[in-house]
Amino acid sequence: MSEQIPSTMRAIEITEPGGPEVLRIGERPVPEPGEGEVLIKVAAAGINRPDVMQRTGMYPPPPGASDIPGLEIAGTVVALGPEASGVQEGDSVCALVTGGGYAEYCPAPASLCLPVPEGLDSAQAAAIPETFFTVWTNVFDRGRLASGESLLVHGGSSGIGTTAIQLAKAFGSTVYVTAGSDEKCQACTDLGADAAINYKTEDFVERISELTNERGVDVILDMIGGDYLPRNLKSLAVEGRIVQIALQGGPKVQMNLLPIMLKRLTLTGSTLRPRTVAQKAMIAHSLREKVWPLIESEKVRPIIHATFPLAQASDAHRMMESSQHIGKIVLSNEEI
Ligand SMILES: NC(=O)c1ccc[n+]([C@@H]2O[C@H](COP(=O)([O-])OP(=O)(O)OC[C@H]3O[C@@H](n4cnc5c(N)ncnc54)[C@H](OP(=O)(O)O)[C@@H]3O)[C@@H](O)[C@H]2O)c1
Repeated sequence: MSEQIPSTMRAIEITEPGGPEVLRIGERPVPEPGEGEVLIKVAAAGINRPDVMQRTGMYPPPPGASDIPGLEIAGTVVALGPEASGVQEGDSVCALVTGGGYAEYCPAPASLCLPVPEGLDSAQAAAIPETFFTVWTNVFDRGRLASGESLLVHGGSSGIGTTAIQLAKAFGSTVYVTAGSDEKCQACTDLGADAAINYKTEDFVERISELTNERGVDVILDMIGGDYLPRNLKSLAVEGRIVQIALQGGPKVQMNLLPIMLKRLTLTGSTLRPRTVAQKAMIAHSLREKVWPLIESEKVRPIIHATFPLAQASDAHRMMESSQHIGKIVLSNEEI
């Protein structure tokens, strides 16, 4: 490693499973990049709901991943590991990682580094990888959403939701969302959603039926599960697809399977973090080719709700758990 890289760094540690207060700033050795990896001096790291689940002990890091939280970063490449190609020292990149983002330095597979889109600062770039990889692989790969089709996004004002609204609209779909307040619903329609349903005051099954003249939607991106599943089945059109990406409403449900046969429905889902680097690199390739031009032409942008200094990670987690936010929350190593 080159001389300017220190031997230790500040990083956020999960001292024990628990509330936001268990996140503490500590000192760790600066990691070495492994085969095919680069070392990134982290300028900013995005916060995602899976980090909150990891902190509470419900989502342990996969084998080989850092115990430091943080699934996405932006910064400068400062060292190349063996066989790392496609990026150079000094490049400004954002990257998808399996952990370790809440730190001053973090290794990342070279194939999961993408250039910081022109016109974006580090905080905006750090807010891209986790949600854009997730939305791309679930809505467009698994859900096969096509131009002219319709999408229902539960949790439209989340980091994932704000990304899904913009990408689905940019690729020519009609987009409906659910969100938990009128303010959040307004933010979703401001971002391009065709209609937003306040799930606390309205029944989304009835509203989707009205909005689609009883046809239903082609794809549902669902982060709720539980009793949303039978209601989602009712809201799907013939040949519709549900893509399950989280289970905030619980993993178990009793349901009638008949609509799956009668309407020829597909129920699928995925988690991003345990997938292989090669699988994620294919998603990175699609994003670079099809989505980066949309970001650089300002048709799609990461929505940042708040940025906190790294040392205030616990405050950032408190904000996420309060669900006040619209879009993303980011940690920064730069002066805010
Ligand atoms: N499978 C994967 O690969 C993958 C990857 C990344 C994230 N995820 C999951 O995707 C979800 C969003 O992640 P994020 O980082 O964007 O988190 P986030 O911003 O905290 O979003 C969570 C959202 O869930 C909404 N919500 C909660 N209960 C709801 C309900 N009954 N109906 C509709 N919306 C509801 C909240 O909205 P209100 O406040 O309006 O209720 C909030 O906007 C999380 O569940 C996360 O675990 C999955």
